[in-house]
Amino acid sequence: MPKPIIIANWKMNLSFEAALALAREFKKQFGRLASPDLAVCPDFLSLPAVGEELQNSVWRLGGQDVFWQLTGAYTGEISAPLLKKAGADFALVGHSERRQHLGETDELVNLKVNACLTAGLTPIICVGESLDERQEDLTNTVILRQTMRALAGIDVVPNEQVIIAYEPVWAIGAGQAVEPEEADEVFKLIRQTLIDLYPLSLVNQNFRLIYGGSVNEDNAEALAATNLGNGFLVGGASLSAEKFGRLIAAFKL
Ligand code: PGA
Repeated sequence: MPKPIIIANWKMNLSFEAALALAREFKKQFGRLASPDLAVCPDFLSLPAVGEELQNSVWRLGGQDVFWQLTGAYTGEISAPLLKKAGADFALVGHSERRQHLGETDELVNLKVNACLTAGLTPIICVGESLDERQEDLTNTVILRQTMRALAGIDVVPNEQVIIAYEPVWAIGAGQAVEPEEADEVFKLIRQTLIDLYPLSLVNQNFRLIYGGSVNEDNAEALAATNLGNGFLVGGASLSAEKFGRLIAAFKL
């Protein structure tokens, strides 16, 4: 199994100056860790400068989104090759905030996954049920559908990596994470779906399943101890080096 990874998703929360200052702090405090893997997704405009701050450290960069075409007349969009050139190795795809506010569909997620892999980026595919879906007992249906559609027709070859982040929509920014046992059940479902699509060795070595949604210093240890989870996608708690350090510590016990 690959090393766990913790990914900071700064969203649109920081000014340019604050992003650079936090990057500096992240490098100073965690820049030499051998494990877990660490990545940060700043806003697009700060990304190159954050990358410079993090040079000569273990930190890697990700975009918070990516467009599905590689080039062309698409006003306002950022392509996977441009992201890669700017220093990113990852891109978030299908984050629930984009699904909710920007109409991102499973089909667009699929196209974006394809664009990422074509350009040499690791997609971080976000899946998760809303509160209504959860209350209607549709969690498994939603996770299965989002995972299958995101990966439809996608060939993953041995030098490519894919991360799937289980992020229950109702848990994001809510202060209340899912119970670790429940996250593990969902991971089991995702893993089974992957095994139906790809060779087992590929599933074991090229896919990481991570959890996101109100991960914080109080629940990190329990969430890190799930059987199949292999990291976190972190919003709120990634805006403070001190809090983030506690999440890292959860994988070093
Ligand atoms: P949160 O956000 O940690 O603030 O809940 C997670 C995410 O949206 O990726």
